Amino acid sequence: MTPTRPTLLAITSIAATVATLGTTVATAAPGAKIIGGTPADSASDYPWQVALFSNKSNFFTTFYCGGTLLSERWIITAAHCADVSDTTYVAAGIIDLDKALSGEVAKVEQWYIHPAFDSNTFNNDIALLKLEEPLKLANCGETCIAIDTVTADNEADLMFENATTIISGWGNRDNSEGADDYPTILHFAEVYITSCEGTGYSDVDVYPNYPITSNMFCAGTADFSRDTCQGDSGGPLVVFDTDQTPLLGGITSWGEGCAIANFPGVYTRLSMYKAWIDTTITDNCCAPTTVLINRIENSRDDKYKMLGLVEGWLLLVLVGLYLLQSRGRESR
Ligand code: ARG
Repeated sequence: MTPTRPTLLAITSIAATVATLGTTVATAAPGAKIIGGTPADSASDYPWQVALFSNKSNFFTTFYCGGTLLSERWIITAAHCADVSDTTYVAAGIIDLDKALSGEVAKVEQWYIHPAFDSNTFNNDIALLKLEEPLKLANCGETCIAIDTVTADNEADLMFENATTIISGWGNRDNSEGADDYPTILHFAEVYITSCEGTGYSDVDVYPNYPITSNMFCAGTADFSRDTCQGDSGGPLVVFDTDQTPLLGGITSWGEGCAIANFPGVYTRLSMYKAWIDTTITDNCCAPTTVLINRIENSRDDKYKMLGLVEGWLLLVLVGLYLLQSRGRESR
């Protein structure tokens, strides 16, 4: 068995298939999937989810990967979603790919692929996208909100065995051999963190060339009925802290088929990348001024108010100096 780690070719063929399916798959059949998932009701259910496209003139047909909103300027996705030969566009604040242009759309200025990404083993399958212009998150309100990531400090509390997580994406809903069923509406499913040990991946005879590294983790369900699939890559796996604040714990990366017994989905482990994420973002512009989900905004208005105060004091001091000087002149 070989794991499905699609190349750019496979990703492009997803786009082509989606194109031919058109709107006929717009409504999900009852019980239809991400694999085993449910269609989202509103973009505000998963406001950190974004879609990646490779052509602005025909968004729906060129959708090819998911991503997550880290700030108004930065998206995080899988390195294997890098489509550097084409221009990438990002749509935030949407659940329906057919209406992607009604969301907040931005062009990617630069891909930052993790320097240690290995396209053979998918080790370090993580990339940051810097947008040309910041997304106007205020325009889409509660449908596009950035999210924080799990770090090495809080990982043990959040990403334990059996912890509940949510996966989401516009990927394939049909895991039968060669079948495609791409939705236009974002789907989500609850899956649980599981050890990769004791799964098919730990059988060295079956999986000699695809080691599960410490930069990866597994998630699925005991009956292997729910999973991410082709087209979900780059998208979020979210965990919840004790206040129910969602945090990005994983990025959809790879798996053996989709929802196949004994082969849970494999995700990039976010906690390994805090330093890389922070330096990439700070070295390449724009400390976030974003509202994080469930966080109080460190409001830009406050900064403007401060600026007003400084200007006011400066003016007073100048007027004071001028008055002193002119009095001085009079008394001479
Ligand atoms: N690599 C796939 C993509 O590019 C995601 C596959 C996830 N597979 C799984 N069984 N969880 O969309």
